[in-house]
Amino acid sequence: MERFYISTAIDYPNGAPHIGHAYEKIVTDAHARWQRLMGKETYFLTGTDENGQKLQESAKLEGKETIDFVDENVALFHKFCNDLNISFDDFIRTTEERHKKVACDFWKRLEVKGDLYFGKYSGQYCISCENFYTELQAPDKICPHHNKALELKEEDGYFFKMSQYQDWIINTIKANPEFIVPQSSHKEILSRLENETIRDVAFSRPNNGWGIPVPGQEEKFVMYTWCDALVNYYSALVDKNLEPKFWPADVHVIGKDIAWFHCVIWPCMLHALEIPLPKQVYVHGMVLGADGKKMSKSLNNGVAPYDMLKKYPLDTLRYYLLRGIPATSDGAFVEEDLVTRNNSELGNDYGNLIMRVIKLSLKHLPEMVNAEGLTLELTFDDIIEKMKQSMNKREHNRALDALWEGVNRANQYVNEKAPWKLKNDPEALTPVVYNCLSGIHTLASLLYPFLPETGAKTLEYLDIGFRNFTDESNLCHTSQTPPYTLTTPEALFPKIEA
Ligand code: MSP
Repeated sequence: MERFYISTAIDYPNGAPHIGHAYEKIVTDAHARWQRLMGKETYFLTGTDENGQKLQESAKLEGKETIDFVDENVALFHKFCNDLNISFDDFIRTTEERHKKVACDFWKRLEVKGDLYFGKYSGQYCISCENFYTELQAPDKICPHHNKALELKEEDGYFFKMSQYQDWIINTIKANPEFIVPQSSHKEILSRLENETIRDVAFSRPNNGWGIPVPGQEEKFVMYTWCDALVNYYSALVDKNLEPKFWPADVHVIGKDIAWFHCVIWPCMLHALEIPLPKQVYVHGMVLGADGKKMSKSLNNGVAPYDMLKKYPLDTLRYYLLRGIPATSDGAFVEEDLVTRNNSELGNDYGNLIMRVIKLSLKHLPEMVNAEGLTLELTFDDIIEKMKQSMNKREHNRALDALWEGVNRANQYVNEKAPWKLKNDPEALTPVVYNCLSGIHTLASLLYPFLPETGAKTLEYLDIGFRNFTDESNLCHTSQTPPYTLTTPEALFPKIEA
């Protein structure tokens, strides 16, 4: 069986999760569920990044022990994943022993390799990003992501000799055009690498009582948070002995603010240790406020995920984030658009299709609809193919566009065949209804990775399992003609008043 290992970034549990975290988890979940549907043995990792200095400072502000503060917030992230119906297989916390052990092992191996050295660092630092910025990136000494003044930071500490890998990483990215997707991110990273001399990276900070102590220098230094955080993708596999099975990862899903760490620093670390690189880094865009600007308290343009979940069904939120926000660039979260899509695409196009077909069938035919020897005339081979291609390009919004072509096709079929006119002629009515049910079977199975609750519910109404999309040699979706035993559906996606 083919395998697929996918991960989200691990979040800073600095407060409650926000809509950007929801977006990344839902996107990754849709891809993980899709790969499972396509028959791959899939492993989905998410978790929290807990060793940063920022967490220690935030805890102090709240008058809490760092570990208590972190534990409370991690519980919120864990619950958040469950509330969003995220099908993760593992949730790693970087304060866990299993992670610390592997992070220390990476450190020691880099040291043995001669890739770490002790030196003095001076640079402009943003504590929210836990990152140093070069003059080119922040000429005015303002953090490009947080829009606040950078701090001059001068420290003794350990460095990773990344500068020696500049040519190697450029060549690697060029030779593997799919390593960084989308193209825009591939180009951006490459252009920075080609126009800047890359510097060695600070890999430690003074030990102030929080973080993973540097092996051999436990009293004085802890690992710089990015140095240990990136290792999570690997450490999560080690204690379960899963790395022979799932490493290298198929795709790390991350936001563009942390692309450099994943597309440059992480591959250089792995290369230094002769560990195979992940096959791909998928850099998604940012969810912006309705005004198209970065969400911030001062602009009051933020969207709180739990506010949305109180007002709308989870699958409406999932659908909006997956289809309404472009997969390859930033997108504004406009609540009115979410409502419009709920009412028209989910309610009218999809919900009504299910409702009218099943109700009509239950009214005029037996509960069980069978179609032995029937040749299906409502099929979706082209749609399935388009969806596969889009998902392989990590363009889930395009996959949903294609799926909606299918939903529209099914609606058009119903309108053209006008089964209500055949209600007194079961022999003529059965094949038409069967075609519709078979179509719904396919569409609901394809919808499941995106809207798992809706997909599963629809299949329950037909009393059927997923379509099998894995057998390429047998166009299963057209040759499989199981009987469907129907139950009355509840209204899917009732209209929301704007
Ligand atoms: N802890 C680091 C990641 C370490 S991975 C080894 C971090 N954490 S974070 O909590 O700040 O962000 C987690 C993820 O959420 C990142 O991929 C980030 O890009 C993403 N997002 C944060 N805000 C976002 C939006 N507004 N929109 C979409 N994703 C966003 O960075």
